[in-house]
Amino acid sequence: MTTQTTPEAADITALREALVNTLRQQGDIRSDRVADAFRAVPRHIFAPQASLAEAYADDAVITKTNDRGHPLSSVSAPWVQARMLELSGLGPGMRALELGSGGYNAALLAEVVGENGEVVSVDIDPEVTDRASRLLAQTGYNDRVTVRCTDGTYGAGEPAPDGGFDAIVVTAQAPDIPPAWTAQLARSGRLVVPLSFRGIHQVFSFAHEDGHLVSRGQTRCGFVGMQGDNRHGGHAIDLSDGDLRLGLNDDQQADGAALRTALASGQRSTIWTGVALRGNEGVLPSLDLWLVSTLSPCARVYASSRGVERGLSGWTIAAAATWEGGTLAYLTIRPEADGFELGVHAYGPDREGLAARLADRIRAWDDGGYRGTVEPVARVYPAGTPDDQLAPGQVIDNRYSRLVIALS
Ligand SMILES: C[S@@+](CC[C@H](N)C(=O)[O-])C[C@H]1O[C@@H](n2cnc3c(N)ncnc32)[C@H](O)[C@@H]1O
Repeated sequence: MTTQTTPEAADITALREALVNTLRQQGDIRSDRVADAFRAVPRHIFAPQASLAEAYADDAVITKTNDRGHPLSSVSAPWVQARMLELSGLGPGMRALELGSGGYNAALLAEVVGENGEVVSVDIDPEVTDRASRLLAQTGYNDRVTVRCTDGTYGAGEPAPDGGFDAIVVTAQAPDIPPAWTAQLARSGRLVVPLSFRGIHQVFSFAHEDGHLVSRGQTRCGFVGMQGDNRHGGHAIDLSDGDLRLGLNDDQQADGAALRTALASGQRSTIWTGVALRGNEGVLPSLDLWLVSTLSPCARVYASSRGVERGLSGWTIAAAATWEGGTLAYLTIRPEADGFELGVHAYGPDREGLAARLADRIRAWDDGGYRGTVEPVARVYPAGTPDDQLAPGQVIDNRYSRLVIALS
């Protein structure tokens, strides 16, 4: 007997196959197991508000926003889901915990771990868990995925299976690694988490090593922010009538009054580095990671469009900054023939010295051949670990953990 496929079913199969091909070509999918998962799960069912083309595009579909229009929940972009699945090291029969639900990624996880595996998917938002449960039932994954409404800061919300989860996949931007994540991770497991530090968003895959976690792989991507007890802290200092702000982590301080006075004086040193930034080269993330791994203190300034009009900065992109007392130096750009040139603006009593130091760092990144190739090692120690037990690197002190970032 032959089965007739409706044109729509054929379209959907073709769209899904095209997505797999794109993700393979981009290097996001590396294994047949992950490719088969993307082939099997009907992404459009988990994104009913999107057209078929949108559901199978390599882009996120926003499913919930707050009253200011900021995304609270989404079906994440396929490329990052594929990379995170690859980073998780999951395979048949393994146990996975997803923190930040929606349904689609949980179904992908269920495909990867197979009939003998186990998937727990939790979300802090009951609207999201209700929706995920309904869509997982509609697609037949409800007996392979356990959905729970709880604050993922504390892990699975119930005791982890004996021996822990083989992978914990966090799908909201986390500022910190709470103890439950380390405790619920199997000895040989992987914690895949989009981590924010010093204004940078980087997905790391962590493994246990000698009482702490060490990164074994990474990729660059931003997610919607975590809510609950592991939500983002940090604070911003207004430096010039709201047109230039310095964003700091909770373990950083700066003398806002002195820096505002420096900006208000209008006295500035600028150094153009001779280092080019070309069109679509996409090297800024590598410069950001290099600076955060080698420069202390390091944070980011944010210029508004009016700040750019006022000449405070050449761009509205978050720019690496360093400071000392009442002196601040930060990255800027100016257009040149086929792209931009990186430079440094500095205000304050030691503006020439600090501008020169930051400009030297930028040239060292360029001369050292780091364009596009920076993958720092991140280590996570429990809060309170003494300094002499930390690996060398830049230390970021969070509420639950001490994060150490180093070039190798
Ligand atoms: C990008 S969405 C998840 C996407 C989903 N994994 C998918 O299938 O594509 C991020 C989710 O994290 C959830 N979330 C934020 N903070 C959380 C927390 N502390 N615990 C659990 N879930 C949280 C949000 O409610 C949101 O639904």
